[in-house]
Amino acid sequence: MPLSSEGCRSMRAHGRLGRGLLLGTLVASCLLGARCAQAAARVGAGQCTASLRCAARPSLLLGTAWYPEQWPQSRWPKDLALMEAAHIHVVRVGEFAWSTFEPHQGVYHFGWLERAIAEAARHHIWVVIGTPTAAPPAWLTSRYPQTLRVRADGRRAQHGNRQQFSFSSPLYRKFCRDIAARLARRFGHNPDVIGWQIDNEMGPPSFGPETRRQFHAWLRRKYHTIAALNRHWATAYWSQTYDHFSQVPMRAQGENPGLLLDFKRFVSATWASYVENQVQVIRRYASARQFITTNTTHWGDQFNQYAISRELTLASWDDYVPSGHYRWLDNAVEDDLVRGYKRRDFWVMETQPAFVDWWPVNAALPPYGMRELAWQDVGHGANAVLYWQWRSALNGQEQYHGTLVGPGGEPVPAYRVVKKIAAQFALAAPALAGTTPRSRVAMLQSYASRWAIDFQRQTVRFDVVREFTAFYEPLERFAQSVDVISPSAPLGRYRLVIAPALNVLSGAEARHLAAYVRTGGHLVLGPRSGMKDSYDALWPERQPGPLVPLLGGHVGQYYSLVRPVPLSGRLGSGHASVWAETLVPQASDTQVLMRYGKSNGWLNGKPAIITRRVGKGSITYIGAWLDPPLMRTVIDDLARAAHVRPLIPGVARNVEVCERLGDGKRVWILINHGSKPHTVRLPAPASPLLSGGPARRTVVLAPHQVSVLLASLT
Ligand code: GAL
Repeated sequence: MPLSSEGCRSMRAHGRLGRGLLLGTLVASCLLGARCAQAAARVGAGQCTASLRCAARPSLLLGTAWYPEQWPQSRWPKDLALMEAAHIHVVRVGEFAWSTFEPHQGVYHFGWLERAIAEAARHHIWVVIGTPTAAPPAWLTSRYPQTLRVRADGRRAQHGNRQQFSFSSPLYRKFCRDIAARLARRFGHNPDVIGWQIDNEMGPPSFGPETRRQFHAWLRRKYHTIAALNRHWATAYWSQTYDHFSQVPMRAQGENPGLLLDFKRFVSATWASYVENQVQVIRRYASARQFITTNTTHWGDQFNQYAISRELTLASWDDYVPSGHYRWLDNAVEDDLVRGYKRRDFWVMETQPAFVDWWPVNAALPPYGMRELAWQDVGHGANAVLYWQWRSALNGQEQYHGTLVGPGGEPVPAYRVVKKIAAQFALAAPALAGTTPRSRVAMLQSYASRWAIDFQRQTVRFDVVREFTAFYEPLERFAQSVDVISPSAPLGRYRLVIAPALNVLSGAEARHLAAYVRTGGHLVLGPRSGMKDSYDALWPERQPGPLVPLLGGHVGQYYSLVRPVPLSGRLGSGHASVWAETLVPQASDTQVLMRYGKSNGWLNGKPAIITRRVGKGSITYIGAWLDPPLMRTVIDDLARAAHVRPLIPGVARNVEVCERLGDGKRVWILINHGSKPHTVRLPAPASPLLSGGPARRTVVLAPHQVSVLLASLT
């Protein structure tokens, strides 16, 4: 019997460390190109599949976006041989190839992809197929212009770019379903195809008449009667009262906040059904062994990612960083955000080979930056990192983007860096198999809250992502592992939960958070929390709305700040900027932790942070945007009070600690993001996987060095 992927998986699961490492070596040797049949024979485990490769693929994959349709087939073996030599073992293909798959309506060409997959398999490379729906062919958009997206200003998109389709068009969805079904029927049981990507970086909605009709139907399903809508949106204001759902305007800005929030939810639901339309047919025809994902963008809030992810097997994102450098904490929070979409490991479906082509200045990330970025992704739960792209098309909009080989097909410098990263991945993959980060602290990220604040910032300086990151940074530095999850996710495993600006708080979410506190959890709410209900209407009891009774206090008033305001108290002293709220303790056991100093007159002497113990748990409200040193003191204090401990205490500020656990293993990934060497003392002996050598208690990290260590669990 051929060795199935399930077979390989269970062999790994049953082997503890020693056996795990033996099999790991086996898997690594597959990835380095050795025939699995030989390796499998070494342990007598079985045979390889007809596709020449071991059915158990490495637990950590390095890959690239490859566009075989842009090149003559005679070139493919050379490209794939270069990939194989760089230990690349996954390619994503097809996501913009509709005009090659279906050059004329109803005329299908899939043979080339079949050949490309077979050729990739000969080079020990697995394939992820992207459905090509982000780029409809010209015959489709010219014959059926009603499938084109309508912009907010009413103009229809034109052919010639991508994403020119309307996400709500039933006709476009019919075409999408058809092409996805045909691909799934043809490749759904191909052993060398390991997964599917739906579309590519979905985002822009359409504002045409079809969308409007669907929006009205969505509102009707939600509210049943127009009177209910009028009540929740308080439409007596400015005579907005509606007689019929069909009168409700559809705009993404400048309208009633209730309408804007519902429009975002409608857009999310429409994208979710757009994805589901393709997921359904792929599931129908493809093997359950093949995963289904879609790649998402930087902090993307065009729709609710939790809603989109529901139908997918795993989440994936495209990790591009600011020109020429990256702030590791800014990237860490995004990895954690994406891990939270499905609360499991994820893929980095695209990342940059040195530089991109869409910043005002496209400076290259240094080679060490590429290495740090890739390992950071893995440290935060990525099981694959794919570079975009292998080779740039000779023409097309992205000629200047970084690649791994140049226009002539010869390796560029980034190729050699990727090859080294891939060799490191191969060394660590066996130990990382079956592991994932397991955090004891969480941050709550709510799309409704982000949208609501963005509709009405009150001060342009209140950037929700910056505010989120302001809380995340000290927490990540202290705890060294943070989950970022939705407010309705299960909270039982967390010692500390922080919700930075949970502006929209529904009654159900409030009950969920209160139950967490009552069962011993420690909840921290940041400024602007609990201000609105789920219709974006103000809670009359002031902030934090339905959590006022639990907190035993509430917000008295909020202020946008133009200059810093001093504050001090039991947790130290410092300044607030951007935003400050005065707090009013009501219950006798609600304590004031910090007060504002002399400032604008409104804030003088007023409470800025209050807290209350609830059984073994607690609820704390921070009413101000704290300066970074004070934020650090406050977060450290709250984390200690919640019995949160760093994974590896005493590390330098520029050293990132990541931990992955599972399958009886503990793996530490230590990254020195700084330009000075640092010594890290480990709490348990650990074996360095990249350099080899005996287990040790101390690691010396050179500037920008990465160390991956398999630690003992005791
Ligand atoms: C991504 C996109 C890719 C490519 C890349 C360039 O957002 O998915 O197709 O355009 O950007 O950085």
